[in-house]
Amino acid sequence: MNQASRFAPRGLCAPSPRQSPLSPVSQRDSPVLVNGHGSGKVILLGEHAVVHGVPAIAAGLSLGARAHAAEGAPALRIEPWGVRVERGQATPLGAAFDALLAARRLEGPEPGRVREHAVEAVIELPGSAGLGSSAARGGAVLRALDAADGIVRDFDGSQSVALAWERVFHGNPSGIDTAVALSGGLVRFVRHPAPGARALAPLAAGRLLRLVVGHSGQSGSTKETVARVADRKASVPEAFERELSAFRDVVADGERALRVGELDALGACFDRCHTLLAGWGVSTDGLDAMCERARREGALGAKLTGGGGGGCMIALVRDDAGDAAVRRALAEMGREAFETTIGETKGGEIDRRETP
Ligand code: PMV
Repeated sequence: MNQASRFAPRGLCAPSPRQSPLSPVSQRDSPVLVNGHGSGKVILLGEHAVVHGVPAIAAGLSLGARAHAAEGAPALRIEPWGVRVERGQATPLGAAFDALLAARRLEGPEPGRVREHAVEAVIELPGSAGLGSSAARGGAVLRALDAADGIVRDFDGSQSVALAWERVFHGNPSGIDTAVALSGGLVRFVRHPAPGARALAPLAAGRLLRLVVGHSGQSGSTKETVARVADRKASVPEAFERELSAFRDVVADGERALRVGELDALGACFDRCHTLLAGWGVSTDGLDAMCERARREGALGAKLTGGGGGGCMIALVRDDAGDAAVRRALAEMGREAFETTIGETKGGEIDRRETP
Protein backbone atom coordinates (compact mmCIF):
# COMPACT_ATOMS: atom_id res chain seq x y z
CA MET A 1 0.00 0.00 0.00
CA ASN A 2 1.41 3.40 -0.80
CA GLN A 3 1.81 6.31 1.53
CA ALA A 4 -1.16 8.30 0.33
CA SER A 5 -3.71 5.53 0.47
CA ARG A 6 -2.56 4.62 3.98
CA PHE A 7 -3.09 8.21 5.07
CA ALA A 8 -6.12 8.98 3.05
CA PRO A 9 -9.10 7.13 4.40
CA ARG A 10 -11.39 9.75 2.96
CA GLY A 11 -8.73 10.19 0.40
CA LEU A 12 -7.62 12.43 -2.33
CA CYS A 13 -6.11 9.50 -4.21
CA ALA A 14 -9.02 7.54 -5.46
CA PRO A 15 -11.66 9.32 -7.47
CA SER A 16 -14.96 9.45 -5.68
CA PRO A 17 -18.10 11.47 -6.19
CA ARG A 18 -17.16 13.63 -3.17
CA GLN A 19 -13.46 14.12 -3.72
CA SER A 20 -11.71 13.57 -7.01
CA PRO A 21 -7.92 13.47 -7.37
CA LEU A 22 -7.50 17.03 -8.49
CA SER A 23 -10.36 18.87 -6.86
CA PRO A 24 -8.88 21.40 -4.46
CA VAL A 25 -10.13 21.62 -0.90
CA SER A 26 -11.57 25.06 -0.44
CA GLN A 27 -11.46 27.14 2.69
CA ARG A 28 -15.22 26.71 2.96
CA ASP A 29 -14.97 22.89 2.88
CA SER A 30 -12.43 22.83 5.66
CA PRO A 31 -12.20 26.03 7.64
CA VAL A 32 -8.96 26.39 9.56
CA LEU A 33 -7.10 29.44 10.79
CA VAL A 34 -3.81 29.73 9.00
CA ASN A 35 -0.39 30.84 10.17
CA GLY A 36 1.62 28.62 7.84
CA HIS A 37 1.51 27.82 4.14
CA GLY A 38 3.51 25.52 1.86
CA SER A 39 3.22 25.45 -1.94
CA GLY A 40 2.73 22.41 -4.10
CA LYS A 41 4.81 22.37 -7.27
CA VAL A 42 5.29 21.06 -10.76
CA ILE A 43 8.73 20.10 -12.00
CA LEU A 44 9.12 21.39 -15.54
CA LEU A 45 12.45 19.70 -16.26
CA GLY A 46 15.00 17.51 -14.51
CA GLU A 47 13.16 15.44 -11.90
CA HIS A 48 15.06 12.34 -10.71
CA ALA A 49 18.28 13.63 -12.31
CA VAL A 50 18.15 16.40 -9.67
CA VAL A 51 18.65 13.74 -6.98
CA HIS A 52 22.03 13.01 -8.66
CA GLY A 53 23.19 16.62 -8.89
CA VAL A 54 21.69 17.86 -12.17
CA PRO A 55 19.81 21.20 -11.95
CA ALA A 56 16.04 21.11 -12.29
CA ILE A 57 13.38 23.71 -13.05
CA ALA A 58 10.16 23.85 -11.04
CA ALA A 59 7.26 26.17 -10.35
CA GLY A 60 5.25 26.56 -7.16
CA LEU A 61 1.49 26.13 -7.32
CA SER A 62 -0.79 28.35 -5.31
CA LEU A 63 -2.41 25.14 -4.09
CA GLY A 64 -0.49 23.28 -1.40
CA ALA A 65 -1.13 23.04 2.32
CA ARG A 66 -1.97 25.45 5.10
CA ALA A 67 -1.70 24.95 8.81
CA HIS A 68 -2.40 26.52 12.16
CA ALA A 69 -0.52 25.90 15.41
CA ALA A 70 -1.97 26.78 18.81
CA GLU A 71 -1.48 26.05 22.50
CA GLY A 72 -2.03 22.38 23.20
CA ALA A 73 -0.37 19.00 23.56
CA PRO A 74 1.87 18.30 20.55
CA ALA A 75 -0.27 16.63 17.93
CA LEU A 76 -0.91 16.99 14.22
CA ARG A 77 -4.29 16.69 12.60
CA ILE A 78 -4.57 16.55 8.82
CA GLU A 79 -7.79 17.40 7.00
CA PRO A 80 -9.60 16.34 4.90
CA TRP A 81 -8.05 12.96 5.76
CA GLY A 82 -9.31 13.09 9.34
CA VAL A 83 -5.94 11.70 10.51
CA ARG A 84 -4.40 12.68 13.84
CA VAL A 85 -0.95 11.77 15.16
CA GLU A 86 0.74 12.44 18.46
CA ARG A 87 4.38 12.40 19.40
CA GLY A 88 6.08 9.01 19.19
CA GLN A 89 3.52 7.42 16.91
CA ALA A 90 5.06 4.74 14.69
CA THR A 91 3.46 5.74 11.38
CA PRO A 92 5.23 7.68 8.62
CA LEU A 93 3.20 10.79 9.44
CA GLY A 94 3.96 10.39 13.15
CA ALA A 95 7.66 9.88 12.40
CA ALA A 96 7.71 12.93 10.11
CA PHE A 97 6.06 15.08 12.79
CA ASP A 98 8.59 13.89 15.39
CA ALA A 99 11.48 14.52 13.01
CA LEU A 100 10.25 18.05 12.33
CA LEU A 101 9.83 18.83 16.03
CA ALA A 102 13.31 17.50 16.79
CA ALA A 103 14.91 19.43 13.91
CA ARG A 104 13.24 22.67 15.05
CA ARG A 105 15.05 22.31 18.38
CA LEU A 106 18.40 21.43 16.85
CA GLU A 107 18.51 24.00 14.05
CA GLY A 108 18.54 27.54 15.54
CA PRO A 109 17.74 30.38 15.78
CA GLU A 110 16.69 30.91 19.37
CA PRO A 111 16.34 27.26 20.48
CA GLY A 112 15.07 28.56 23.85
CA ARG A 113 11.91 29.85 22.19
CA VAL A 114 10.98 26.57 20.51
CA ARG A 115 7.85 25.01 21.98
CA GLU A 116 5.58 22.25 20.78
CA HIS A 117 1.96 22.85 19.83
CA ALA A 118 -1.20 21.29 18.51
CA VAL A 119 -1.25 21.73 14.74
CA GLU A 120 -4.13 21.47 12.34
CA ALA A 121 -3.29 21.27 8.64
CA VAL A 122 -5.40 21.20 5.52
CA ILE A 123 -4.05 19.78 2.31
CA GLU A 124 -5.27 21.11 -1.00
CA LEU A 125 -3.53 18.66 -3.36
CA PRO A 126 -3.60 14.88 -3.71
CA GLY A 127 -0.73 12.93 -2.19
CA SER A 128 1.51 10.63 -4.28
CA ALA A 129 0.71 12.64 -7.39
CA GLY A 130 4.11 14.22 -8.12
CA LEU A 131 2.83 17.63 -7.01
CA GLY A 132 4.92 17.95 -3.86
CA SER A 133 2.06 17.47 -1.42
CA SER A 134 4.15 15.99 1.41
CA ALA A 135 6.68 18.84 1.24
CA ALA A 136 3.85 21.39 1.16
CA ARG A 137 2.45 19.84 4.32
CA GLY A 138 5.85 19.87 6.03
CA GLY A 139 6.46 23.49 5.03
CA ALA A 140 3.04 24.58 6.27
CA VAL A 141 3.44 22.77 9.61
CA LEU A 142 6.93 24.21 10.16
CA ARG A 143 5.80 27.73 9.37
CA ALA A 144 2.75 27.42 11.63
CA LEU A 145 4.91 26.22 14.53
CA ASP A 146 7.49 28.95 13.98
CA ALA A 147 4.76 31.60 13.73
CA ALA A 148 3.27 30.41 17.03
CA ASP A 149 6.69 30.79 18.69
CA GLY A 150 7.56 34.06 16.95
CA ILE A 151 10.59 32.46 15.29
CA VAL A 152 11.84 33.72 11.93
CA ARG A 153 14.21 31.40 10.07
CA ASP A 154 16.12 32.21 6.94
CA PHE A 155 15.47 30.09 3.87
CA ASP A 156 18.38 27.68 4.44
CA GLY A 157 17.32 27.15 8.06
CA SER A 158 13.72 26.40 7.08
CA GLN A 159 14.90 24.14 4.27
CA SER A 160 17.04 21.99 6.55
CA VAL A 161 14.20 21.54 9.08
CA ALA A 162 11.65 20.82 6.34
CA LEU A 163 14.01 18.20 4.90
CA ALA A 164 13.89 16.27 8.19
CA TRP A 165 10.16 15.81 7.55
CA GLU A 166 10.55 15.02 3.87
CA ARG A 167 13.22 12.34 4.42
CA VAL A 168 10.67 10.22 6.26
CA PHE A 169 8.49 10.06 3.16
CA HIS A 170 11.05 10.11 0.37
CA GLY A 171 14.19 8.54 1.77
CA ASN A 172 16.69 10.49 -0.32
CA PRO A 173 15.02 13.75 -1.38
CA SER A 174 17.03 16.18 -3.46
CA GLY A 175 15.38 19.04 -1.57
CA ILE A 176 13.59 20.51 -4.58
CA ASP A 177 10.11 19.82 -3.19
CA THR A 178 10.79 21.41 0.19
CA ALA A 179 12.62 24.35 -1.42
CA VAL A 180 9.68 25.13 -3.71
CA ALA A 181 7.17 24.49 -0.91
CA LEU A 182 8.91 27.27 1.00
CA SER A 183 9.72 29.65 -1.86
CA GLY A 184 6.94 29.26 -4.42
CA GLY A 185 7.68 30.89 -7.77
CA LEU A 186 9.52 29.73 -10.85
CA VAL A 187 12.95 28.48 -9.86
CA ARG A 188 16.04 26.57 -10.80
CA PHE A 189 17.27 24.23 -8.09
CA VAL A 190 20.53 22.34 -7.71
CA ARG A 191 21.19 19.91 -4.88
CA HIS A 192 24.88 20.59 -4.37
CA PRO A 193 25.59 24.19 -5.40
CA ALA A 194 29.15 25.30 -6.11
CA PRO A 195 30.85 27.04 -3.17
CA GLY A 196 29.33 30.48 -2.71
CA ALA A 197 26.37 29.70 -5.01
CA ARG A 198 22.78 29.15 -3.91
CA ALA A 199 20.73 26.00 -4.28
CA LEU A 200 17.69 27.95 -5.40
CA ALA A 201 17.59 30.72 -8.00
CA PRO A 202 14.46 32.52 -9.21
CA LEU A 203 13.86 32.38 -12.97
CA ALA A 204 11.99 34.85 -15.12
CA ALA A 205 10.04 33.35 -18.01
CA GLY A 206 10.09 35.33 -21.26
CA ARG A 207 6.43 34.43 -21.82
CA LEU A 208 3.61 33.18 -19.64
CA LEU A 209 3.59 29.41 -19.55
CA ARG A 210 0.27 27.64 -19.74
CA LEU A 211 0.33 24.10 -18.47
CA VAL A 212 -2.35 21.48 -18.29
CA VAL A 213 -1.75 19.20 -15.31
CA GLY A 214 -3.39 15.79 -15.75
CA HIS A 215 -3.69 13.04 -13.16
CA SER A 216 -3.17 9.45 -14.34
CA GLY A 217 -5.64 8.13 -11.77
CA GLN A 218 -2.85 6.03 -10.18
CA SER A 219 -0.80 7.08 -7.19
CA GLY A 220 2.96 6.84 -7.48
CA SER A 221 5.57 6.23 -4.79
CA THR A 222 8.47 8.65 -5.20
CA LYS A 223 10.47 6.62 -2.70
CA GLU A 224 10.16 3.58 -4.98
CA THR A 225 10.92 5.37 -8.24
CA VAL A 226 13.93 7.17 -6.70
CA ALA A 227 15.19 3.76 -5.51
CA ARG A 228 14.68 2.32 -9.02
CA VAL A 229 16.85 5.06 -10.51
CA ALA A 230 19.50 4.48 -7.82
CA ASP A 231 19.54 0.78 -8.79
CA ARG A 232 20.18 1.75 -12.39
CA LYS A 233 23.06 3.97 -11.33
CA ALA A 234 24.57 1.07 -9.38
CA SER A 235 24.09 -1.52 -12.13
CA VAL A 236 25.13 0.48 -15.24
CA PRO A 237 27.20 3.40 -13.94
CA GLU A 238 28.70 4.45 -17.27
CA ALA A 239 25.39 4.50 -19.15
CA PHE A 240 23.91 6.33 -16.18
CA GLU A 241 26.53 9.08 -16.42
CA ARG A 242 25.72 9.55 -20.12
CA GLU A 243 22.03 9.75 -19.29
CA LEU A 244 22.70 12.31 -16.57
CA SER A 245 24.58 14.38 -19.09
CA ALA A 246 21.58 14.19 -21.48
CA PHE A 247 19.40 15.46 -18.64
CA ARG A 248 21.86 18.27 -18.00
CA ASP A 249 21.64 19.30 -21.67
CA VAL A 250 17.86 19.20 -21.77
CA VAL A 251 17.53 21.30 -18.60
CA ALA A 252 20.04 23.85 -19.96
CA ASP A 253 18.24 24.01 -23.34
CA GLY A 254 14.88 24.28 -21.59
CA GLU A 255 16.09 27.05 -19.29
CA ARG A 256 17.32 29.05 -22.27
CA ALA A 257 14.03 28.56 -24.13
CA LEU A 258 12.06 29.49 -21.04
CA ARG A 259 14.03 32.68 -20.42
CA VAL A 260 13.51 33.95 -23.97
CA GLY A 261 9.94 32.67 -24.24
CA GLU A 262 10.51 30.17 -27.06
CA LEU A 263 7.59 27.95 -26.28
CA ASP A 264 8.09 25.45 -29.12
CA ALA A 265 11.68 24.84 -28.03
CA LEU A 266 10.60 24.48 -24.41
CA GLY A 267 7.91 21.99 -25.44
CA ALA A 268 10.51 19.94 -27.32
CA CYS A 269 12.55 19.84 -24.09
CA PHE A 270 9.49 18.51 -22.22
CA ASP A 271 9.29 15.66 -24.75
CA ARG A 272 13.03 14.89 -24.49
CA CYS A 273 12.82 14.91 -20.71
CA HIS A 274 9.87 12.50 -20.75
CA THR A 275 11.78 10.11 -23.02
CA LEU A 276 14.77 10.15 -20.65
CA LEU A 277 12.52 9.55 -17.63
CA ALA A 278 10.72 6.71 -19.40
CA GLY A 279 14.15 5.20 -20.14
CA TRP A 280 14.74 5.12 -16.38
CA GLY A 281 11.50 3.18 -15.92
CA VAL A 282 9.67 5.85 -13.93
CA SER A 283 6.85 6.48 -16.40
CA THR A 284 3.79 4.26 -16.79
CA ASP A 285 1.69 3.21 -19.77
CA GLY A 286 -1.00 5.56 -18.49
CA LEU A 287 1.33 8.57 -18.31
CA ASP A 288 2.85 7.76 -21.73
CA ALA A 289 -0.63 7.55 -23.26
CA MET A 290 -1.68 10.87 -21.73
CA CYS A 291 1.47 12.60 -23.00
CA GLU A 292 1.05 11.17 -26.50
CA ARG A 293 -2.57 12.20 -26.62
CA ALA A 294 -1.77 15.72 -25.42
CA ARG A 295 0.85 16.08 -28.19
CA ARG A 296 -1.62 14.83 -30.80
CA GLU A 297 -4.06 17.48 -29.60
CA GLY A 298 -1.50 20.19 -30.28
CA ALA A 299 0.39 20.46 -26.98
CA LEU A 300 3.87 21.88 -27.58
CA GLY A 301 5.32 19.19 -25.35
CA ALA A 302 4.27 16.83 -22.57
CA LYS A 303 5.98 14.89 -19.81
CA LEU A 304 5.43 13.22 -16.49
CA THR A 305 6.08 15.52 -13.55
CA GLY A 306 7.59 14.63 -10.18
CA GLY A 307 8.32 11.11 -9.05
CA GLY A 308 6.25 9.26 -11.69
CA GLY A 309 5.19 5.63 -11.31
CA GLY A 310 1.68 7.14 -11.52
CA GLY A 311 0.69 10.63 -10.45
CA CYS A 312 0.62 13.54 -12.87
CA MET A 313 1.81 14.68 -16.28
CA ILE A 314 2.05 18.23 -17.61
CA ALA A 315 1.43 19.51 -21.14
CA LEU A 316 2.60 22.90 -22.40
CA VAL A 317 -0.15 24.57 -24.43
CA ARG A 318 -0.06 27.74 -26.51
CA ASP A 319 -3.45 29.30 -25.88
CA ASP A 320 -7.07 28.83 -24.80
CA ALA A 321 -7.80 26.55 -27.74
CA GLY A 322 -4.81 24.35 -26.91
CA ASP A 323 -5.79 24.20 -23.28
CA ALA A 324 -9.38 23.25 -24.13
CA ALA A 325 -8.31 20.60 -26.66
CA VAL A 326 -5.89 18.90 -24.26
CA ARG A 327 -8.28 18.98 -21.33
CA ARG A 328 -11.12 17.62 -23.48
CA ALA A 329 -8.90 14.78 -24.72
CA LEU A 330 -7.77 13.90 -21.20
CA ALA A 331 -11.40 13.95 -20.04
CA GLU A 332 -12.24 11.51 -22.86
CA MET A 333 -9.54 9.24 -21.44
CA GLY A 334 -11.25 9.52 -18.05
CA ARG A 335 -8.47 11.65 -16.63
CA GLU A 336 -8.86 14.76 -14.49
CA ALA A 337 -6.90 17.88 -15.27
CA PHE A 338 -6.51 21.53 -14.38
CA GLU A 339 -4.68 24.41 -15.97
CA THR A 340 -2.02 26.47 -14.28
CA THR A 341 -0.32 29.59 -15.61
CA ILE A 342 3.26 30.33 -14.68
CA GLY A 343 5.14 33.45 -15.48
CA GLU A 344 6.39 36.81 -14.48
CA THR A 345 4.29 39.85 -13.72
CA LYS A 346 5.55 43.41 -14.04
CA GLY A 347 6.65 43.66 -10.44
CA GLY A 348 8.75 40.53 -10.74
CA GLU A 349 6.31 38.48 -8.72
CA ILE A 350 5.24 35.14 -9.97
CA ASP A 351 1.73 34.92 -11.25
CA ARG A 352 0.14 31.55 -10.60
CA ARG A 353 -3.44 30.57 -10.92
CA GLU A 354 -5.17 27.30 -11.29
CA THR A 355 -8.50 26.73 -12.90
CA PRO A 356 -10.07 23.37 -12.15
O1 PMV B 1 6.92 13.14 -6.57
P1 PMV B 1 7.32 14.40 -5.93
O2 PMV B 1 6.31 15.50 -6.06
O3 PMV B 1 7.74 14.20 -4.52
O4 PMV B 1 8.64 14.91 -6.70
C1 PMV B 1 9.82 14.17 -6.58
C2 PMV B 1 10.95 14.75 -7.40
C3 PMV B 1 12.13 13.79 -7.55
O5 PMV B 1 13.10 14.47 -8.35
C4 PMV B 1 11.71 12.53 -8.29
C5 PMV B 1 12.73 13.39 -6.22
C6 PMV B 1 13.52 14.48 -5.53
O6 PMV B 1 13.67 14.39 -4.32
O7 PMV B 1 14.01 15.40 -6.21
